Amino acid sequence: MTIDAGLPIHPGSPWLAPLAGFSDLPFRLLCREQGCAVACTEMISAKGLTHCNQSTQRLLLTHLTDQPLVVQLYGSEADSFVRPMEFLLERGFRFFDLNAGCSVPKVARTGSGAALLRTPEKLLQIAEVMVQAAGAGNVGVKLRLGWDKGERTFLDLGRPLEDLGVGWLTLHPRWAVQGFSGQALWDGLRALRERVAVPVIASGDLFSAEDGCRCLDATGVNGVMFARGALWDPAIFNKYLSLFGLSRPDVFSPHHCLAVARRHMVLCREHLSDRRALLAMRTVVPRYLRHFHGAKSLRQSLTALSSWWELEDVLDTLSKCANAEKQNPACLERTAHAPGEHCDKDWR
Ligand SMILES: Cc1cc2nc3c(=O)[nH]c(=O)nc-3n(C[C@H](O)[C@H](O)[C@H](O)COP(=O)(O)O)c2cc1C
Repeated sequence: MTIDAGLPIHPGSPWLAPLAGFSDLPFRLLCREQGCAVACTEMISAKGLTHCNQSTQRLLLTHLTDQPLVVQLYGSEADSFVRPMEFLLERGFRFFDLNAGCSVPKVARTGSGAALLRTPEKLLQIAEVMVQAAGAGNVGVKLRLGWDKGERTFLDLGRPLEDLGVGWLTLHPRWAVQGFSGQALWDGLRALRERVAVPVIASGDLFSAEDGCRCLDATGVNGVMFARGALWDPAIFNKYLSLFGLSRPDVFSPHHCLAVARRHMVLCREHLSDRRALLAMRTVVPRYLRHFHGAKSLRQSLTALSSWWELEDVLDTLSKCANAEKQNPACLERTAHAPGEHCDKDWR
């Protein structure tokens, strides 16, 4: 029996990946404005949810316009997911994802994230608890290929997960021990697509809109999920949809970068406390403005940002620079990027 996922999972509906430290409410809203169809929260500790401290509450911050939303959980024991699932369902959350891909030592050391690939029976028990609580089709699992190089754990897990009623599988086709090194092995995506009937979503080295299309063509997956590509330019969604004739993207230009930075600022100010919004700007703005000449020196003043007027000052300076760029294109260090070039592949 094929279970219907309650979410759009097809080529014309790009997803935003769970991004710890980044995929908060303002960023998700920014991506949605650019055409992101489904967004995931940052990973949230199932255990932490039971205590529901302030930082966990912050990770659950959402809004009517932040739909559909997938809450991503991590943990190592099925029992510790029972109460958190009740808690989340009571608060109206409907879609969930199990993190079986995070290889960061802090998480993997506890047997959670990608470490679950070393204890597949535990992974299946957790998925079962989540599906029983949320209903068939409403839970996804985000996998890597396996823990150690050469393992094909993802393939062994595909059918059992589907039998449990999981609604979709996301694969970041690297081994956990790789972290983010080397290349994502898209062949793994094809193999999983051929193994299971549930939709498969691709994650891994989708740095540009074109990468998304190439991955679909090469692997036959049902949908794509942008991660680092979206961090560098949330308009990746719009650009990707334009490749299907579904939108008209902005031209990548200094004005575009500034507009994105300003919009992110507005969303942060709308949805976060003033202090948090300003802190967020210290990392957000340099990310979008890295192509400007002189961005390096500006970055220093941005990382020490302590008031909104300081930020306005920087943005005004860059605006003037962008206007000058119309006469002198050298103002923008690079106006276009080759696939993969505009992202730091070794982010983590
Ligand atoms: C800064 C950062 C934070 C991430 N946080 C999470 C997370 O919370 N949960 C998760 O499943 N994956 C997380 N990932 C992995 C991404 O969701 C994605 O699978 C990975 O970056 C591969 O896609 P890409 O090569 O297109 O960036 C994170 C990646 C980055 C770079």
